[in-house]
Amino acid sequence: MAKEKKDVEVSIDKGADSGSASNVTLGKGLDIGTANFVSAVQDNTGDLTVKMQRNAFIDVNADDFTRNMLTKLNVQYVVLSDKMIVIGDPAFELANIFNRETRRPMRDGLISPKEADALPIMKLLLESILGDPRVPRETVYFSVPGEPIDSDMNVIYHKGIFHGLLSKLGYNAKDMLEGHAVIFSELAEEDFSGIGISCGGGMFNVCVSYKTIPALAFSTSRGGDWIDGNTAAVLGIKISKATAIKEKGIDLTNPKNREEEAVIIYYRNLIEYTLTNIKSRFESSEGMPSFPEAVDIVCSGGTAMAGGFVEIFQDVFDSIKFPIAIKNIRRSEEPLHAVAKGCLVAALSE
Ligand SMILES: Nc1ncnc2c1ncn2[C@@H]1O[C@H](COP(=O)(O)OP(=O)(O)O)[C@@H](O)[C@H]1O
Ligand SMILES: [Mg+2]
Repeated sequence: MAKEKKDVEVSIDKGADSGSASNVTLGKGLDIGTANFVSAVQDNTGDLTVKMQRNAFIDVNADDFTRNMLTKLNVQYVVLSDKMIVIGDPAFELANIFNRETRRPMRDGLISPKEADALPIMKLLLESILGDPRVPRETVYFSVPGEPIDSDMNVIYHKGIFHGLLSKLGYNAKDMLEGHAVIFSELAEEDFSGIGISCGGGMFNVCVSYKTIPALAFSTSRGGDWIDGNTAAVLGIKISKATAIKEKGIDLTNPKNREEEAVIIYYRNLIEYTLTNIKSRFESSEGMPSFPEAVDIVCSGGTAMAGGFVEIFQDVFDSIKFPIAIKNIRRSEEPLHAVAKGCLVAALSE
């Protein structure tokens, strides 16, 4: 089994109610994303440990030559129906060596209907980032997408599968809306009121929350992958090339060439699409809270990491008559950790 590659140690805000060294609060947080799986755990000194693993794998022929090569490269693998399977981050490195694409267990935020091997692979990925429960049936909160507004994808099946996988690993699994997790992680000081948006690879997840209660939550099947797919199509380049242009330090407010201009057109459109959807849902749904004070919008997720993201977001926001008074638009400090951290906060507060 592949070992966790990235061990990121970050310290958690130690509020008045945080556990002391001798009093570890059990419970884990888990972000199940199309691009990445992320876990968050409080260790016995009260610090937060975050682990990340790409939600991808690659299968290679189980011959002696390849086996020797993997051993030399120190890459761990499992054998699954006559193939050697490498999961997570090392799958990406191998894909480059073999000049192949990795396989992806999920698509657009949910288990991929096109990937027959998705379930055993995701079980391995979960084992590698969560480890064993520290007590029997330790609680783990995992993120699930809000109801998709632009596809007929079924969240119920997805949710059920992860409940099953996590139970098999010995956990007491509870699901939590991904946008709601962003609120839990980022809006504690605002009394958990405001708008959380998780800007992922496969989808965007939105949650409007009033004092911890989600008033409106939905997902759209447009995210980083959508930007990549469209950019690649209009420029006539490979999708992986488009991804690289986007990830290698683009400044969305200052395009340097035609390629970057294309990325920005889709970024802007994606933000417009997200904001107009929040607006129309908020206006057409019943029982929406009226916020007594202006609230914040917080964006997390890999797609929010591009330089100038908040500026472009603000610019698009200014062109829309938004139904809720907004104080600040900001990006979470650690965009890739926010959802897992929010799930952990939910688990610790049980
Ligand atoms: N520095 C960056 N700038 C822009 N996009 C990025 C950057 N780093 C990662 N991404 C994009 O973020 C997405 C993955 O983010 P993540 O939040 O992990 O997604 P998911 O929730 O779908 O697993 C991918 O589309 C990836 O290309
Ligand atoms: Mg995500």
